[in-house]
Amino acid sequence: MILLDGKKLANKIQEKIKEDVELLKKGSITPGLAVILIGDDPASRVYVKKKAEACKEVGVYSVVHEMPENIKEETILNTIKLMNENENINGILVQLPLPKHINQTKILEAIDPKKDVDGFHPFNMGRLCLDLDSFVPCTPLGVMEIFKEYQIDLKGKDVCIVGASNIVGKPMAALLINAFATVDICHIYTKDLKEHTKRADIVIVGVGKAGLITEDMVKDGAIVIDIGINRLDNGKLAGDVDFDNIAPKCSYITPVPGGVGPMTIAMLLSNTIKATKL
Ligand code: GUN
Repeated sequence: MILLDGKKLANKIQEKIKEDVELLKKGSITPGLAVILIGDDPASRVYVKKKAEACKEVGVYSVVHEMPENIKEETILNTIKLMNENENINGILVQLPLPKHINQTKILEAIDPKKDVDGFHPFNMGRLCLDLDSFVPCTPLGVMEIFKEYQIDLKGKDVCIVGASNIVGKPMAALLINAFATVDICHIYTKDLKEHTKRADIVIVGVGKAGLITEDMVKDGAIVIDIGINRLDNGKLAGDVDFDNIAPKCSYITPVPGGVGPMTIAMLLSNTIKATKL
């Protein structure tokens, strides 16, 4: 079994980004990222803090616009408009989930697609489906970078994605189809999850349910990518996969923490540099 070390790869990518930023700064350009954080969701706060710290480490300017849970949609839209027009801001990110009274589609569509470093705008999602250059959502892009680093060939592989979210499962499926994998997407209404995961050469799980994937659900030699991040009652972090029991039978597996999580942040920085160079 080989551990897919996302933390090590993310550090390597961030070192390269640091050099890119230094070069841009020599040309008097400082990449800038604006983050909009709404409400008090503790997980969102942690993610935004990590994103801002990562920006600082590589020399990217970042600003976090914090807004209360009961904020008006119009106020968020106005902030996005200002960021769209601000020449010092190259990337804009609205941390999800949003409060229930806010129309998420309207908010995401308000972001200039050229500054859409999360790749959630329908323009970028559409281009991704068509295999055209676009901003690609950071988590699935990070998974693709892991495959590249470990020279895992995707052509013709049977991949089972568990979780069909707009921010992970669907863009992950598009990337894998573009790489000529055979993709099977499972979700909450899938009748027999095990029947799907058991057949797969590669199982990718991003649901947010600790212990969802057990040892009997993956075949010998499978590659397992765990995108879940769950806080257990004992305070420890765990993915969606029963790591201890599954790892011995895998050819490759990502740990949690230290797998896909750090790659998501590295890809956000990478997308911000891409937006700056546009
Ligand atoms: N919430 C969970 N993951 C993400 C992400 O990648 N980007 C944003 N903006 N919100 C999220």
